[in-house]
Amino acid sequence: MREITATVLENKNIAEGICSLTFATDEAIPVRAGQFAMIGIDGFPLRRPLAVCKAEGERVTVCYRQAGEGTRRLASRYSRGERLSVLLPLGNGFYVAEKEKRVAVVGGGVGIFPLISAIREYAETKEIYAYMGFRGKAAICMRYEMQRAKELVIATDDGSEGYRGTSVQAFMEDIGRVKPDVVLSCGPLPMLRALKSAMAGRGIPAYVSLEERMGCGVGACLVCVCELTNGEHARVCKDGPVFEIGEVKL
Ligand SMILES: Cc1cc2nc3c(=O)[nH]c(=O)nc-3n(C[C@H](O)[C@H](O)[C@H](O)COP(=O)(O)OP(=O)(O)OC[C@H]3O[C@@H](n4cnc5c(N)ncnc54)[C@H](O)[C@@H]3O)c2cc1C
Ligand code: FES
Repeated sequence: MREITATVLENKNIAEGICSLTFATDEAIPVRAGQFAMIGIDGFPLRRPLAVCKAEGERVTVCYRQAGEGTRRLASRYSRGERLSVLLPLGNGFYVAEKEKRVAVVGGGVGIFPLISAIREYAETKEIYAYMGFRGKAAICMRYEMQRAKELVIATDDGSEGYRGTSVQAFMEDIGRVKPDVVLSCGPLPMLRALKSAMAGRGIPAYVSLEERMGCGVGACLVCVCELTNGEHARVCKDGPVFEIGEVKL
């Protein structure tokens, strides 16, 4: 992990309430799919965790929903040329074993962003089947990146585009045909719970990337602790954010 002062290259709206922020680092930083950055925002003592969507050489892109005061400030205050304090890369990220060739990615809401990095990382070497859920058509973004998958199903809650329903429902309708070797997922808790119960007993490894409130992002403050099914606890920032789906209480 490094603490860097990055330079903002672009910070723009890409869908309803969603922005994409690209910044330049002083040197190329290797980032694995599913790892995240902690972004310092002027006037806020705590950095905000955001998944890395793309890391290409010295250019890093994160995408974020304007959820509260911090992300609203990030959208309004940081334009091209501004300096940004960033911790990067953080967390374990997704891991797909060599023998796992057919990979299903199931995302919802801002949970699609870490999955974009997984699609980018594995599109060349694996068959990716992507199920991405949005509230409605106006919230859909990063189409070009999602289309790197061998198959892409877009699901919308209101049916304004693609499958009407959740990405988990769309995926479960296809699972028999797709026969994934592994499933990677990120999204709101109810979505992850639905996936967990639908996957139970199928014998297919599945991994979820969790979103917990964070303080330090580096394993020191214990703000992000989650409960494991074996009764132990884990730090989402350091031991995660990616966990085997049966390992964590959702
Ligand atoms: C590993 C990880 C990756 C994430 N990746 C993305 C992403 O790619 N795109 C995206 O839009 N969002 C992502 N989030 C959620 C994002 O961090 C929060 O939406 C953001 O911190 C909200 O900050 P705020 O100041 O706007 O909101 P406020 O609600 O004002 O924040 C108050 C405090 O709560 C924390 N907080 C609030 N909501 C969350 C949340 N859901 N998760 C963690 N901390 C939260 C903030 O960091 C801050 O300390 C991620 C969260 C985690 C843990
Ligand atoms: S955020 Fe501090 S330990 Fe995880």
